[in-house]
Amino acid sequence: MNSREIRQSFLDFFASKEHRIVRSASVIPAEDPTLLFTNAGMNQFKDVFLGKGTREYVRAADTQKCIRASGKHNDLEDVGRDTYHHTFFEMLGNWSFGDYYKAEAIGWAWELLTSVWKLPKERLYATVYKDDEESLALWQQVTDIDHAHILKFGDKDNFWEMGETGPCGPCSEIHIDLTPDGSGGPLVNVGDYRVIELWNLVFIQYNRNSDGSLDPLPQKHVDTGMGFERVTAVMQGKGSNYDSDVFTPLFDRITELTGVSYTASLDSPTDIAMRVLADHSRTLTFALSDGAVPGNEGRGYVLRRILRRAVRYAATLGCNEPIMYRMVGVLAETMGDVFPELHKQRQTVEKIIRAEEVSFLATLGRGTEIFNEVVAGMKAAGTRVISGADAFRLYDTFGFPLDLTRLMAAEVGFDVNEQGFEHSMQEQKARARMDRKDKMRTSDDGGSWAWFMEERPTGFVGYETLETRTRLAAARKSGERLLLVLDRTPFYAESGGQVGDHGTIETEAYRFEVAETRKDGELFVHVVTTAYDKVRDCAVAPSDVEFDGTAAAAEAAVDRDSRVDTERNHTATHLLHAALRKVLGEHVQQKGSLVTPERLRFDFSHFSRVSAAELEQVEHEVNAQIRKAEGLNRHVDVPYEEALSMGALAFFGDKYADRVRVVEVPGISIELCGGTHVGNIGQIGMVKILSESSVASGIRRIEAVTGRVAEALLWKEYHDLQEIRQLMKLKSDEAPLPKIQELMEDRKALEKQLQETRLAGLLDTLAASLAGGEEVRGCRVMAERVDGVGGDELRQAGLALRERVPLAVGLLCSVDDGKVSLVGFASDEAVRTLKLDAGKLVREAAACVKGGGGGKPELATAGGKDPDGIGKAVEVFMASVKAALEG
Ligand code: ALA
Repeated sequence: MNSREIRQSFLDFFASKEHRIVRSASVIPAEDPTLLFTNAGMNQFKDVFLGKGTREYVRAADTQKCIRASGKHNDLEDVGRDTYHHTFFEMLGNWSFGDYYKAEAIGWAWELLTSVWKLPKERLYATVYKDDEESLALWQQVTDIDHAHILKFGDKDNFWEMGETGPCGPCSEIHIDLTPDGSGGPLVNVGDYRVIELWNLVFIQYNRNSDGSLDPLPQKHVDTGMGFERVTAVMQGKGSNYDSDVFTPLFDRITELTGVSYTASLDSPTDIAMRVLADHSRTLTFALSDGAVPGNEGRGYVLRRILRRAVRYAATLGCNEPIMYRMVGVLAETMGDVFPELHKQRQTVEKIIRAEEVSFLATLGRGTEIFNEVVAGMKAAGTRVISGADAFRLYDTFGFPLDLTRLMAAEVGFDVNEQGFEHSMQEQKARARMDRKDKMRTSDDGGSWAWFMEERPTGFVGYETLETRTRLAAARKSGERLLLVLDRTPFYAESGGQVGDHGTIETEAYRFEVAETRKDGELFVHVVTTAYDKVRDCAVAPSDVEFDGTAAAAEAAVDRDSRVDTERNHTATHLLHAALRKVLGEHVQQKGSLVTPERLRFDFSHFSRVSAAELEQVEHEVNAQIRKAEGLNRHVDVPYEEALSMGALAFFGDKYADRVRVVEVPGISIELCGGTHVGNIGQIGMVKILSESSVASGIRRIEAVTGRVAEALLWKEYHDLQEIRQLMKLKSDEAPLPKIQELMEDRKALEKQLQETRLAGLLDTLAASLAGGEEVRGCRVMAERVDGVGGDELRQAGLALRERVPLAVGLLCSVDDGKVSLVGFASDEAVRTLKLDAGKLVREAAACVKGGGGGKPELATAGGKDPDGIGKAVEVFMASVKAALEG
């Protein structure tokens, strides 16, 4: 059977046992902050096991995309060195949610392996948990396994846990003996590639809490997982997963790209490298297809490390240019029917991987040199340890993840001082913190708050209202400005990219104009730039305002128009985000934003320029959504995890409070957001994108306007266009472009004509002057100044003149726009018989106008900076010619 048939036969088998065949979940577990990557088939059912969720079926089976490159289950360092570890693999699994239990799980596993797939029974071993007599007995009762092949193991091997916390329980594993003579029994669970685990049957009964304790679950479940690549290799009679048809297309591609062939050897450096490339290309392709992006933290950093590891190994194959991105296509072609996202995201994934490779390759060579120098230095010093500081320098300057340095060190028999590395890292973080603090200190003017009432966090009422009665809680002078804190306020304070509100605060004695609102911890600070004394009926400097020390009553009113303009822009960023994800791909993530009343700016991850056509599509999409005029839902005080499980987009890498606010445009967008928004997206009116640009590697920026600003912009453009139409006498709906093009062509033709006419006139004048000019020994000599003629025209004139009179030599000078041009010419005969050299003559003349140039004896040109030297240039020319002719 080929791998495709094996996968299908597994699913068919469990379908025949009344299992619902479900889709593989994403490798990015959106709803589980305890995991960076999906690491087992059961992840998507975690809520069912914990009794928190239900499904409409009690039996399920699937093939699940898994990545084990971080956390509890991490196989990264083993990849390449052996024949059966992968960072990415498919896990075939079947589940019972409180339905069948051990007897069926064991019986069916045995049936599939031995009756359907006909694996040799005498080669199979079953392990059970040391205390699990029930499973041991069941193996004996429901299967015909050799009883001597049932082995007991302890916690390490036969108690399966998903992570540090989560569902867990005793398990029973099936291993296969691949030794040539079937003597592998003693090798079960010793990490020998000749006897490997095929299938793990977990009997989920507990939840592991974060304090390490176990709670029994309300129901008992079955969770099984079989390594698809392993079972395929076994079924295909291969000694290594990498020899099965899952991997051969990848090796073929690597061979095609590098010229190196795979020889299936365990120790050959090029074979190890090829296994690493094949494995890592799968991990990267699947992870990126599910929306992950390489980055500096968390999941992104794991992927970056994997990619850099692969790039380093590619060098072993003699390949020092981007190669990993060229593997994506093979995976799309061979697995895209089972995992359609590989097709859908192919181009995006290729672009991202390529950009990462290019960026790392730019420093890999230099970093390797430094690494080699460090190693040589250490060797000379008699140690075999790379210091933390050196490892950190490689990390910080050359982008070498610690595990890459460790790998390279191991290759030359060195260790890395990892504690030292960690120490350098912490030091750098501390320095960055200090820098930030210093900056804050210098921007602080040192004044202190005068409190008129008990100090407490400002109550924000600005989601519901724009005006409120309140009290003045505190004040502080800051240079020319006055800072006010209110007991509660409708003013939004700048955060999450949305600018703070402006408006007015009025007490009985004063009216204050608030120019901006900022947060200081939990206080909302209103910055007053203009104050008006209501009693004396005059303006006062904000810094002269007097307070009597009581918490005066105040009316606070936000400027409604600018707040609503801001809200239009803010809601528009959410729609834009959703549209970008739809048009460009799910890898698009918000990286920053600025929302003001006038416009919006939205930064997001994307690896190439957004084309004009894509921008147009995005804009159309957003405007089409706006016309749907959906109302917004705001969910307040939602537990963070619940928000994520609602599908809310969070700023990757951002820390959120435990309870968050969620802004939802039903069916279109759902985001964690503390900002203010329109009630209905129809209020946005329209969005007009103004520009698209790059802000950093892999981050693009879009600027746009909405509502009345968009209207004003379009009106202005339309108005300009109408004026153009009027001027050109076009109908009010006639496109001006053809006419403009026509006019421009006409103009070009006219310019050309004009130039030709001028040149002809100039030539006639010059030819006449040459013919009637001075004659020295039968040779006509001229030197003329004709201002306002460009260098090019002058040259053409020179060329023409040398044909007009058989024996002639001349110098033409022109001052055009302050620049001097000189052209010297000599007729053929003058060159041949009189040995005149226009190049030499022009060079001499050019020196007089502070310039230089030259050319051939027949024609030469020069430029100069000093028009006053022209007289002298003419003299020098005449003198030289005469000297040449008479001497
Ligand atoms: N969840 C079990 C495993 O990953 C089946 O091995």
